[in-house]
Amino acid sequence: ASTSATSVSIAGDISSQLHGGYSHPLTRAWQAERQLTKAMLIYPLFITDNPDEETLIPSLPNQHRRGLNRIVPFLRPLVAKGLRSVILFGVPLEPTAKDALGTAADDPAGPVMSAIALLRRNFPQLFIVADVCLCEYTSHGHCGILREDGSLNNAMSVERISDVAMAYAQAGAQCVAPSDMNDGRVRAIKLKLIEAGIAHRVNLMSYSAKFSGCLYGPFRDAAGSCPSFGDRKCYQLPPGGRGLARRAIQRDIGEGADIIMVKPASSYLDIISDAKEIGKDMPVAAYQVSGEFAMIHAGAKAGVFDLKTMAFESTEGILRAGAGIVVSYFTPEFLDWLST
Ligand code: PBG
Ligand code: ZN
Repeated sequence: ASTSATSVSIAGDISSQLHGGYSHPLTRAWQAERQLTKAMLIYPLFITDNPDEETLIPSLPNQHRRGLNRIVPFLRPLVAKGLRSVILFGVPLEPTAKDALGTAADDPAGPVMSAIALLRRNFPQLFIVADVCLCEYTSHGHCGILREDGSLNNAMSVERISDVAMAYAQAGAQCVAPSDMNDGRVRAIKLKLIEAGIAHRVNLMSYSAKFSGCLYGPFRDAAGSCPSFGDRKCYQLPPGGRGLARRAIQRDIGEGADIIMVKPASSYLDIISDAKEIGKDMPVAAYQVSGEFAMIHAGAKAGVFDLKTMAFESTEGILRAGAGIVVSYFTPEFLDWLST
């Protein structure tokens, strides 16, 4: 009698039995709505104006600033392993390269303009994203054009940023990605693309929800784009500003963005989830930024966790939140890890 009572109680409690659903590696993988694939990854590249340079960036593990002569040999094996997309950041090091208007950004002989043409020629299948901003090119290091009093002149900044985006698109970039956070730049870029008759072949990926904070330090070392005074709080979002991020995402979709991005990623998973809800009919990208990447390396080095395991866990969290595209400094490693 006691045996049948036990079997009745187990049979009556089937909802508690979950293990059978994920006891095999394959059934565990099936639990994810989106599994990481190579096509989801965009790899950031820092391109300098000294053609032979290849300099390790101390605060950004394993990442280099490279000149034009170094990029193709570096990328060839990665493309062979399945690299699909890169995002380009220009790093002018010539002392005279920077001015108040960020003139070097779209200099036809400058690093990004040259790299776009070079990469299109050498890797016809590679999808080239050009980050669009002025901070790497302005003498003051801010992401726009400033008034006399040091505040951002939004109208002038948008005019300039949209010209730079146009130059990159005309040079052959398949995607332009404004990271400046000036109001109205998505609309201005889209209108210029339409006017030039190239809107049908250029993707506009907006850094829509870009938060200010302390996670961009290694990038600013790499790109030499630290503001010479003040900070970016007037244009980048406050970390607590979830509602503001939702409005920015909504706004950019209305202005013609094809992809919306959230940045940083791991501390902003709710924002990624909001982006996917607001932009449910479009791709959502997330940028696992330099500080997040450096932190994972530091944790692994300190013996807190295994690097590969944490790289996957953090990226899978970003996908689970709603992203289908991840800008990641781990891309070269993932191309290996996803092949085995
Ligand atoms: C420039 C830009 C930044 C990043 C991407 N584009 C730096 C910043 O806003 O200061 C950060 C990327 C990273 O930290 O990896 N507007
Ligand atoms: Zn900037």
